[in-house]
Amino acid sequence: MRIESGKQIEHLGAVRIHPVRRLLELDSGTRIPSQLKESAEPQRIERDAIAAVQQKMAIVLPIKDEDLKVFEAVLSGVPHDCLMIVTSNSQRGEIDNFKKEQEILGQFCTATKRNAIIIHQKDPILGQVLADCGYHEVLAEDGLVRSGKAEGMLVGILMSLVLGKDYVGFIDTDNYIPGAVWEYAQHYAIGFCLSDSPYAMARILWRYKPKISGELYFKKWGRVSEITNRYVNHFLSTKGKFETEIIKTANAGEHAMSLQLAKKLSYAAGYGVETRELMAVFEQFSGLLPAADKAVMEKGVDIIQTETINPHIHEERGDDHLVQDMLVPSLSVVYHSPLCEDKTRELISRHLVEMGCIPQGGEMPKLRMFPPPETADTHKLASLMDNYLKDYAVPKGWPVMTSLPAAARKTPEVTRVMFTDLDGTLLHPVSYSYAAALDSVRKLQEAKIPIVFCSAKTMAEQQVYRQELGVKDPFIIENGAAIVVPKDYFRFPFAFTRIIDDYYVIELGTLYAEVRNRLKTLGETGGAKLTFFGDLTVEEVSKVTALNLLMAGFAKQREYSETAIIEGDRKHLQAALAAIKGTGLSYTFGGKFYEVYLGADKGKAVKILTELFKLNFGDVYTIAVGDSPNDEEMLTSVNLPMLVQMANGRWNKLKVKNLKRVAGIGPEGWSRAASELLNG
Ligand code: GDD
Ligand code: MG
Repeated sequence: MRIESGKQIEHLGAVRIHPVRRLLELDSGTRIPSQLKESAEPQRIERDAIAAVQQKMAIVLPIKDEDLKVFEAVLSGVPHDCLMIVTSNSQRGEIDNFKKEQEILGQFCTATKRNAIIIHQKDPILGQVLADCGYHEVLAEDGLVRSGKAEGMLVGILMSLVLGKDYVGFIDTDNYIPGAVWEYAQHYAIGFCLSDSPYAMARILWRYKPKISGELYFKKWGRVSEITNRYVNHFLSTKGKFETEIIKTANAGEHAMSLQLAKKLSYAAGYGVETRELMAVFEQFSGLLPAADKAVMEKGVDIIQTETINPHIHEERGDDHLVQDMLVPSLSVVYHSPLCEDKTRELISRHLVEMGCIPQGGEMPKLRMFPPPETADTHKLASLMDNYLKDYAVPKGWPVMTSLPAAARKTPEVTRVMFTDLDGTLLHPVSYSYAAALDSVRKLQEAKIPIVFCSAKTMAEQQVYRQELGVKDPFIIENGAAIVVPKDYFRFPFAFTRIIDDYYVIELGTLYAEVRNRLKTLGETGGAKLTFFGDLTVEEVSKVTALNLLMAGFAKQREYSETAIIEGDRKHLQAALAAIKGTGLSYTFGGKFYEVYLGADKGKAVKILTELFKLNFGDVYTIAVGDSPNDEEMLTSVNLPMLVQMANGRWNKLKVKNLKRVAGIGPEGWSRAASELLNG
């Protein structure tokens, strides 16, 4: 996407208010070398950067008896990577709108292979859990969460926290344009890409909000927004020597926040919520009031405003709703701010009296306020919610547990870890079958012993076995080129290079393209015939490997290394390998083919992962099981190295200290190794 670059940013203490930036291009093309925060304007934000944010973002969809077709269309606009959290206050009972919403979301998620959460605001368990966590203010006398959009949003914020998300965005479910919904979620991600602070807020200005009166007329923006912006700007102008008009999104319903910020703000009830968020930021972080949060003051808070391309068309609810439910609450939160000066208060009162909203000399209504979500016992919330999340998860039975931050789970007692090679070890050297090891796999899982695959196989190939065996532990791919860790597996943060789907990836090896580039410089190979998987079709790979077409396709999806077939006699072979070395690349023999790579290191990968296990679970005892020379590095990096027999019943000759040979070819030997670990 491409966006206008920011002009003059205005400051209020630690708060940086960015002027509205227009989006110029919904799609700015595929990857071209460019710097995210380049100074040249306009700025281009890459798809990868947007996706990385969206994977960590929950989109909260508040709903109260909306048209179900519109709701369904809104769902289709939410980017796939975002986790949807629907918070509903719809009618229940004989006509059960909530049930219909659950069904629609369920069908949508099943069809699109997505997971989501849907929860009714008035769910008695939710009320009980919030009470137990000390977040009483949001509860009514009946013990249930109060009605209102803000209250629904707060439930969404709390759920996002429990589910370990980093960002939360809000999108109304009465929006008629799915393309606009999609665009909002892109804007949110762009906002967070543009901010350096962990405390950021992205607010959206609709370019057009069409009104249907005879013919379609593209009106710039609503009256309520115009008036609210005017008084928020007046408020800001009184804080400095210069008049300002910087705020154009004072009551933007479409907005997002980093959870770090969201959990620190105090909120107002009903539709005053968005204006209140801004006022809360000013009150808490401008430094004008005492008791500022030191950490936030150091990093600063970014308020980023962007203007959309799609028009905003939603359900119109009449002037009365606009004035009474929206304008009065919005202005009330400005009026009642302890930072608001008398001049601004007078203007607001006068305006509302003139509009007939409050009587002359009447009191300005005061909204109910909710304390920052972080004042609730969020750890307790997470562990209590642990028991109920499955009831709110869609599709039914989705194992939400894995999404919970590890801190919220009971610490599993990991004391032993098994690293294992796949081909020829867990998988039979000839049949590729793991059948003989299946019982032992289950026993290790019951004993909570992680099974860490460490093999030349690609991520796609290993995923197949992980899924079939129900293995959920980290894994090492392409001969140590990368360590793949399921998000939320470890409690403590660690450095990673990339996010792929639900995984953090620590890369040690050079990317495939670079390996291929170097192979192009390959000199004289002394008559040997070299063939690379990258040059073969899936059918050809299937033929030479005896893998089925699906697995052959996965085997071709190499990200860090290339597989070479080298044909010729011994002399040819040596010349070819010397030529490969001459390009600066390394190679290893996997039994049939050669893996050519740079930087990958099975031993280093095992050591890094062992450190992560130790950091999170205390001291752990490690074993590794392998069958061939390319397992040497893995075997030398653990407490107990074990070797299984090859297809011919012999053990490979390896240079590994204290190597224990176990009887059994491939998976049979693996089973014995597992028993040693279980009983040892
Ligand atoms: N969970 C929940 N609970 N959702 C609610 C409730 C409630 O009590 N009341 C309304 N909603 C949902 C609606 O179904 C809709 O999806 C969304 O909240 C917004 O409500 P609307 O009634 O459509 O509000 P609006 O269109 O007048 O105002 C919107 O835009 C304003 C300007 O941007 C809202 O988003 C305002 O908050 C915003 O200030
Ligand atoms: Mg609406």
